[in-house]
Amino acid sequence: MKAIVQEAYGSPDLLRVRDVPTPAVGEHDVLVRVRAASVHPDVWHMIRGEPRVLRLMGAGLRRPRARIPGTDLAGVVESVGSAVARFGPGDEVFGKTVGANAWRNGGAYAELASAHEDRLEPKPMNLSFEQAAASPDSGTIAIQGLRDEGRLATGQRVLINGAGGGVGSFAVQIAKAWGADVTAVDLPDKLELLTSLGADRVVDADHEDFTRLGERFDLIFDIPANRPYADVRRVLADDGTYVLIGHDAYGREGRRWIGSLGRFAKLLVRSPFDRRLPGLRGANDPGDRLRVLRELLEAGSVTPAVDRTFPLDQVPAAIRALEEGSVRGKLVITVP
Ligand SMILES: NC(=O)c1ccc[n+]([C@@H]2O[C@H](COP(=O)([O-])OP(=O)(O)OC[C@H]3O[C@@H](n4cnc5c(N)ncnc54)[C@H](OP(=O)(O)O)[C@@H]3O)[C@@H](O)[C@H]2O)c1
Repeated sequence: MKAIVQEAYGSPDLLRVRDVPTPAVGEHDVLVRVRAASVHPDVWHMIRGEPRVLRLMGAGLRRPRARIPGTDLAGVVESVGSAVARFGPGDEVFGKTVGANAWRNGGAYAELASAHEDRLEPKPMNLSFEQAAASPDSGTIAIQGLRDEGRLATGQRVLINGAGGGVGSFAVQIAKAWGADVTAVDLPDKLELLTSLGADRVVDADHEDFTRLGERFDLIFDIPANRPYADVRRVLADDGTYVLIGHDAYGREGRRWIGSLGRFAKLLVRSPFDRRLPGLRGANDPGDRLRVLRELLEAGSVTPAVDRTFPLDQVPAAIRALEEGSVRGKLVITVP
């Protein structure tokens, strides 16, 4: 089969399309003929090998241990392992090839990919393969942040910073579906998208400082983390919650060794003394996030915002587009 192969950490231009063996299928695995796969910051982290700490966290010390990048996919089941009862050949599925919050290559940028049955769901019939592939990582992180860490309740006021990117474009729609009042902050070229996704109000980050809006929010869901928590607290209700997702701005901030992990660690240390910080609440995946996401997609409450698609041999261009910014929602790789 054809696949994108990563022999070393570094420039996306080092990636090559190669003929490789079909992946192994364990007894609980599903072999999927990939129709589309998503591009997201954790794929970027693995291709660049940054922050370098990820190399010590199982990704591979000198070069990636697994050679085929990509973690989110949508496609058609080719075959199943002996213990799989939920899926059979011909079923349309979507999901992830690696566990939640894991930094490793997942093999999705290929004609065939293997995934554990628990990380797949039936593809919503109302979605294209491209839309379905755009959803798993970003949509489940949005559910983690809003529901498991943020404990979002109907009628609450939520501010989403960086709302026009991958995670934010899902978070805006999910928060609206769950009855929140949503203020969406991003750069000017994303504001039209945010209004179309249902945000109650949008804030142009180039011209307005959200930490000086003069109102207070029950939940602040922060993706770019471009303001210190000390400033963010000004607009956080006394019993509100601050959820940090953590973004490395594709290396532009130069924290090559630990990336945004230092900021997480500081908030974690503070969390026992500050009830507005969720600490490790929500860190463990309760296992239902992909199912909940599927239900939201099937109900039409969430429609993935796909900015552009790239064919499999254009993965380097897709990664560079992600690094350059100004992506409205998600980038998707299509596989013929
Ligand atoms: N915490 C966790 O458990 C966890 C798990 C997995 C992944 N992640 C992380 O989650 C993050 C997901 O990010 P994503 O996919 O949503 O990234 P993204 O698509 O790059 O979105 C970030 C958004 O923030 C915007 N932005 C940049 N500067 C801003 C500013 N000053 N004010 C307001 N908005 C600004 C960006 O605009 P431009 O594109 O124009 O710059 C973009 O729209 C990644 O860093 C990933 O590593 C976290």
